[in-house]
Amino acid sequence: MKEKILVTGGAGYIGSHTTVELQNAGYEVVIVDNLSNSNANVIDGIEKITGIRPAFEQADCIDLEAMKRIFDTYSGIKGIIHFAASKAVGESVYKPLLYYRNNLVSLINLLELMPVYNVEGIVFSSSCTVYGQPEILPVTESAPIQPALSPYGNSKQINEEIIRDTIHSGVSCKSIILRYFNPIGAHPSAEIGELPNGVPQNLIPFLTQTAIGIRKELSVFGNDYNTPDGSCIRDYINVIDLSRAHVVAIERILENKSNAQLEYFNLGTGNGLSVLELINAFEKATQVKVPYKIVGRREGDIEQIWANPGYANEVLGWKAVESIEDTLRSSWKWQLKLREKGIM
Ligand code: NAD
Ligand code: WQD
Repeated sequence: MKEKILVTGGAGYIGSHTTVELQNAGYEVVIVDNLSNSNANVIDGIEKITGIRPAFEQADCIDLEAMKRIFDTYSGIKGIIHFAASKAVGESVYKPLLYYRNNLVSLINLLELMPVYNVEGIVFSSSCTVYGQPEILPVTESAPIQPALSPYGNSKQINEEIIRDTIHSGVSCKSIILRYFNPIGAHPSAEIGELPNGVPQNLIPFLTQTAIGIRKELSVFGNDYNTPDGSCIRDYINVIDLSRAHVVAIERILENKSNAQLEYFNLGTGNGLSVLELINAFEKATQVKVPYKIVGRREGDIEQIWANPGYANEVLGWKAVESIEDTLRSSWKWQLKLREKGIM
């Protein structure tokens, strides 16, 4: 068995898939999650896939004493992958303090405890949202950070700054900041996937809920953008590809593969797909129709963004390999599973 890794938010969408990949790679995982946006059944799903039940503590990362207890109980945690955060962009506009408290205090607690418990490094979930609308596409890690359009986006920028300043203060830990593009898809077993809360704001859960008949039609937010078909362009990355990058990142820290104490990587495929292209790809991959209509633009949407993942490909030796068709089929299989379980 390799080192012990604390996965905060490990019952969530990306955290659960990453736990699977970590366990498959031989790491021992301790999950801490307050279940504010997830369900304890996810731990069963992880066990079904890997044959290993990860340790699970229901606790809140903003509770410093609870976090100390976890580090005491599971002595020898060597690395942290920090997913726990509130992530609904729209909600963050109405509840900014909730977002700032949850997303900032959680990270501060972990950074304070790391030297106390000899934790060597932290991998942090950031977002391509920090780039705003980049001038040059595909976007590289050196593109300028632009003013955030929401408290959620701002919390990611401030988190990045907190990590940078902590590392510069002379602590001995390392950090890798991963900027995700648009994670989609589910584990091919359909044992774990994304559990949207209420009416989904993100494209794929809304699309699969429409395809299965929960929603009448998908609204395409704008077809008058300066893109080939007028709809917005994103870089949709399979959640398993994304998860594998976390395994590589934590390994890089623990095996001292780099002298740098702080590194940033874009995690995307390098391919931009428009909303309309994505709907077509889904229909082709699944043979299921998606009723949709074109509506006005959504406030705050970026017109087009996709990654230049070249730095991650070269330096991490990681590359997104899953096809968009397989990825969309996995989203559909997961939606069917939710129906079968009576969840949605
Ligand atoms: P998610 O909501 O499915 O997972 C987050 C998990 O953290 C949930 O299980 C939630 O219950 C838990 N959590 C939240 N606050 C907590 C706290 N204070 N203490 C303990 N547990 C807490 O979200 P996700 O999509 O898996 O996202 C994971 C991370 O990746 C987040 O930091 C998110 O901001 C970031 N991210 C996500 C996307 C995306 O599109 N999904 C894109 C870029 C970045
Ligand atoms: C994708 C595209 C929409 C829904 C958000 C956050 C970002 C990141 C990921 C965490 C856009 C269009 C969507 C719908 C549509 N999260 N769309 N109809 O906006 O790229 O990013 O989630 O960090 O911070 O802002 O993702 O899935 O919401 O939208 O036409 O019903 O689909 O306009 O072009 P987005 P999304």
